[in-house]
Amino acid sequence: MNKLVLPGDILRARDAIAAIPKVDLGPPIEVPPIPEEAKPNGITDEEKQWLTREINRYVKERNALVLSHNYEIPDIQDVAKYKGDSIFLAQKGSESDADVIVEAAVLFMPQILAVMKKPHQIILAPSLNALCSLAAHADPNKIMDWKKDNPTGIVISYVNTYIEVKALSNYCCGSANAAKVIEHVAKTYPDSPLLFLPDVHLGFFAAKTLEEMGQSIDRLWLMMGACHVHNDIRPYHVDNARKQHPNAAIAVHPECGCTSSCMRQVQTGEIPLKLVGFRSTSGMFKYAEEIPQKEIIIATEVGNIYPLSKAVPSKTFIPANPDAVCAYMKQNTLRNLYESLRDMKYEITVDPELAKQARVPIERMLRIV
Ligand code: 13P
Ligand code: SF4
Repeated sequence: MNKLVLPGDILRARDAIAAIPKVDLGPPIEVPPIPEEAKPNGITDEEKQWLTREINRYVKERNALVLSHNYEIPDIQDVAKYKGDSIFLAQKGSESDADVIVEAAVLFMPQILAVMKKPHQIILAPSLNALCSLAAHADPNKIMDWKKDNPTGIVISYVNTYIEVKALSNYCCGSANAAKVIEHVAKTYPDSPLLFLPDVHLGFFAAKTLEEMGQSIDRLWLMMGACHVHNDIRPYHVDNARKQHPNAAIAVHPECGCTSSCMRQVQTGEIPLKLVGFRSTSGMFKYAEEIPQKEIIIATEVGNIYPLSKAVPSKTFIPANPDAVCAYMKQNTLRNLYESLRDMKYEITVDPELAKQARVPIERMLRIV
């Protein structure tokens, strides 16, 4: 009898990919409700203006920098100095000399800054509820067991992991440089087993990258993890959106539950190759600028559509699944961002020994872009 595969298990890539439909890839942690104040018109214009003014005042007074992920609510994106994907924010944050850096994102991102920070800097997060269902799948004990069984193995962890996992990793990558990091590792360690974690859909993408390099995927291992938001962007969402917008291009984040089916449909010619881009959160911006199509179906968290529409106003962006909303990202609000700067909370710190170990893969991630 086949062994039951559980979320977070580490399997050989072929077995992991075959197990995708059979494993519950739902959130392993509670998904909090979205605060009322994070919803459209959740606060009055008057309060918004007051909070924005106060945030800007504290930014000057405390010599602070505000960073926002692309999936944050528009109010937060508008007040931040920089908005972007996880790698861009890690770069901007670690280059900065500001005394205080507030990162409105999910907690593994300010953790990166807590590793990279200069001694005088304080790293803050507006909400401690900003977790991540994908990061929650990665159990450090399972990684340690894999390393024991594979002493020459190389661990590549996706940016959506907490510090304990990064400390066990040789390399980190974000969606923007996943393919480059995989290529680099595959060339640098031609004989080593490779473990990619925690996202099995992105793992499928890793397997394709190896195959495109002419390498066997026999040495690749994957973790059975997923982001519940991206996992719920299913093939039928893309099919339905294509029926309604037959001339639209499609931008697919490789964390999505539709990644493998879209790749297969491209291979079989059902979807013309020229109409599909597998792109990171930030890669979708360049894609939107370059692709001639006026309409683009977006398969990622819907928050990305706000900055896309601002950056490329001539295009129309259609969410593949309009319910693809990350409630963890939406725990950050203009109110708690203001309170964060006012009360200097919540300070994000990391154990110095873990920080030392995690710094190596993080620096590699920032170098290979
Ligand atoms: P990026 O690395 O693209 O910012 O993505 C992080 C994330 O949480 C994706 O859902
Ligand atoms: Fe995590 Fe998914 Fe939210 Fe990104 S969208 S922060 S992967 S739960």
